[in-house]
Amino acid sequence: MTVKIFDTPEVQDFLTTVAGFDQDGGNERTKQIMHRLLSDLYRLIDDFDVSEEEYWSAVNLLNALGSQTQFGLLSPGLGFDHYLDMRQDAIDAEAKRTGGTPRTIEGPLYVAGAPQAEGFARMDDGQDTDGETMWLTGQVRDVEGNPVAGAKVEIWHANSKGGYSFFDETQSEYNLRRTILTDSEGRYTARSIIPSGYGVPEGAPTDVVLKALGRHGERPAHIHYFVSAPGHQHLTTQINLAGDPYTFDDFAFATREELVVPARRSEDAAEIASRQLDGPFAEVVFDVELAKTDAPELQVRHKRPRAKEDEQDQASQLAGTARV
Ligand code: BEZ
Ligand code: FE
Repeated sequence: MTVKIFDTPEVQDFLTTVAGFDQDGGNERTKQIMHRLLSDLYRLIDDFDVSEEEYWSAVNLLNALGSQTQFGLLSPGLGFDHYLDMRQDAIDAEAKRTGGTPRTIEGPLYVAGAPQAEGFARMDDGQDTDGETMWLTGQVRDVEGNPVAGAKVEIWHANSKGGYSFFDETQSEYNLRRTILTDSEGRYTARSIIPSGYGVPEGAPTDVVLKALGRHGERPAHIHYFVSAPGHQHLTTQINLAGDPYTFDDFAFATREELVVPARRSEDAAEIASRQLDGPFAEVVFDVELAKTDAPELQVRHKRPRAKEDEQDQASQLAGTARV
């Protein structure tokens, strides 16, 4: 027989006490959200007749996730990052801010402070011998098709094994991470290597959760972008390379039809020479359209904890320059 106690006055009173409603201190919004969250969980325990064993194994899993800083990894896997994007899309639509390249999730692997270049940058350190040469280029335009010169294009991606510098300590500092300012025609170009998809480490707490749901933890090959320019809405997006087995089966739900881009292989001697490359390459073209806005808060990326971000904030404040 399953017991149901959630709706009793005793439990309802208990919840108001636990959420601090009878205390003067604390934060009102936190109390409201906590009360709702705890109520939903208490009700769930009743409805699913959760056993003590199940409850404590969940606590153990949360401890494991936290101790390995994996909530930022589980969050996209459980669709929260994409859900927040869906909400931002709806907020933009409601405010009639239409047009522009679609946003998609940032993911947990950005590192602030990558080297900056104008027009062109080489992103790889030449150490990844399995990496196929990539020529990545595009133009940043506004919604009327005018090129945006001096736009800040931050790009980061994985190596041929799906690993990101900083998090993968075998890679050199800022490998495969660069900031490129667009030239007078709004163009940016990078020489780099074709990335491989990222996979959640086998056996990690996030993998345990995904496996319990019968899911995998694989992402397709992809390239991340932050694009910003004064007077334009900051864009967080990424492109997924066409043809990857996971292009439309991304565990982090970042793929959007408009952001799937092919890599064009070339062995043409004239094309190789004009790019000053030493052999065959794969060209990836990604043009970006930025929506206009006068609102300063929409011209910068939202706040969240990011690797090295605080150091960069301090450095730019010391230099007296505002980071866009
Ligand atoms: C990534 O961008 O590589 C990523 C995104 C979400 C979870 C894990 C990795
Ligand atoms: Fe990524």
